[in-house]
Amino acid sequence: MSVAPLHRLYNHYSELPFSMRILYTGALCILGMGYLFGMLYLVHVYSGRDGNPGLSYEDLVIAYTGSGKGSRLESALRGPMASMLPAEEANALVKWAQQGADRPTYETFIRPTIDKRCMSCHDGSNPHLANLGGYDNIKKVTEQDTGTDIFTLVRVSHIHLFGMTFIFFIVGLIFSHAYVRPLWFKYLIMGLPLFCEAVDISSWYLVKLYHPFAWLTMGAGGIMGVSFATMWFISMYQMWIGKTPAAILQRGDRDEEIIG
Ligand code: HEC
Repeated sequence: MSVAPLHRLYNHYSELPFSMRILYTGALCILGMGYLFGMLYLVHVYSGRDGNPGLSYEDLVIAYTGSGKGSRLESALRGPMASMLPAEEANALVKWAQQGADRPTYETFIRPTIDKRCMSCHDGSNPHLANLGGYDNIKKVTEQDTGTDIFTLVRVSHIHLFGMTFIFFIVGLIFSHAYVRPLWFKYLIMGLPLFCEAVDISSWYLVKLYHPFAWLTMGAGGIMGVSFATMWFISMYQMWIGKTPAAILQRGDRDEEIIG
């Protein structure tokens, strides 16, 4: 069976100078450590948001879009503070909070209720109770949980796009020296993580619009992890353990063992 000849610019690890293999191995080890710490951080930050241990689809939805629950004021008025005031006054407070807690309404309608019903305890004299005196203090407990805000996403996006491209470029470059057949598999495992980077980052914003996009976030993240691990292990194995493939040994212009 005739095999297509190897490209003259393709070198297997066994054809590279020893110094390059040292550099490649060191870089792979450090990037591998970095990836593990990245995973630990991710699990720590995202898991358990839905009340169950471990990282799940719900955790991601909550992280990007918020819990869907109202503000601290709303949960207090529906819960432990419900007995402090008549229901219609509580409803007026909740409605005001849901509609954005504006200052004019506060001055005319909200402040009198708060002063009358809440200030006996929440006037700031007890350090363990939220101080509800004044607009700014009450505004703080009316904020809705809407998940990671767009500006934070933009900041994290550009860091990730630059950072992850460095990772997959370096690992991909090292892996490009591996002898892998079928070739389409090699191309796929090198190209896919870069494609998934774009999908992953875009999905953060899309989850805000439509929750099931969180599956895309998880899928893209998973494919990146699998590609990274595959390239890492194949590279290390072929660099230090595996025998030089026959196709490489057969090529004519093979250098003698030289030091470099
Ligand atoms: C008799 C004292 C008392 C009164 C009156 C009172 N509260 Fe409270 N409030 C507490 C205590 C004690 C806590 C903390 C314990 C708890 O959450 O059950 C608390 C907690 C809260 C919290 C939760 C704060 C947080 O950190 O999430 C909010 C919000 C709140 N109160 C709002 C109100 C509002 C609004 C009113 C008036 C309608 C009010 N409270 C009246 C005693 C009071």
